[in-house]
Amino acid sequence: MIDLRARATDPEALDLGVAPEEALRSLADLRFVNRWLGNRGRLLGAVLPYLRSSDRPRLLDVGCGSGDVAVALRQALGGPLAAVGVDIKLLHLQAAPAELLRVVADAHRLPFAAGTFDVVTASLFLHHFDQSELPDLLRALYALARRALVVNDLRRARVPYVFGKAVFPLLFQSRVSIEDGLISIRSSFREPELRAAFAAAGVPSVRIERSWPYRLLAIAEKPPA
Ligand SMILES: C[S@@+](CC[C@H](N)C(=O)[O-])C[C@H]1O[C@@H](n2cnc3c(N)ncnc32)[C@H](O)[C@@H]1O
Repeated sequence: MIDLRARATDPEALDLGVAPEEALRSLADLRFVNRWLGNRGRLLGAVLPYLRSSDRPRLLDVGCGSGDVAVALRQALGGPLAAVGVDIKLLHLQAAPAELLRVVADAHRLPFAAGTFDVVTASLFLHHFDQSELPDLLRALYALARRALVVNDLRRARVPYVFGKAVFPLLFQSRVSIEDGLISIRSSFREPELRAAFAAAGVPSVRIERSWPYRLLAIAEKPPA
């Protein structure tokens, strides 16, 4: 039986590097997950009020993959949005629509000034990092946001793991998505782990909500200036 007591630290194949065609198939699988299994509505619902209350809304999506989360936010906002997507892989950004301002960068060294964006989002991204890396990363992402940092990630549990083992091979086009999907569930968070990472980052107030299906949504709002 799989041991899910601690976060796994196995690297994901997409991060290590796979053939470009395989990576593109896996990114398509991720877009499928985001659309049908990711409770995108909950993420949009958390982010849109901050963007709507801004005169010139600006969004940063870190570890954006092929950019579908930022594009969905742009469409849902229905007005002008300067949306920047950052990813460490050029290939992933090349698969993103041109309406997104695409920046190749490592999330540990982002080329933006503090408070540049109304909202910074990190979706299915934080579980790629060891617990010891999270405080610096969260501190840096929070500093870039004027209104809020919003994190959407998986909640580690047996049910999604068993579901994934049975169903990912039927749902996904790419073998990388099947393997990485299961690693992602094993490396993801229990609520106290995510809360502890925000606390260690010195982020003063964070609201963490469970959302269907086995997701954690963390909203770290900035105090009014
Ligand atoms: C699982 S994908 C999630 C993509 C997208 N956010 C989504 O919700 O579908 C994780 C992405 O993070 C990127 N990534 C991993 N480590 C990174 C780093 N240190 N800096 C920036 N991007 C990184 C990967 O290249 C990949 O595109």
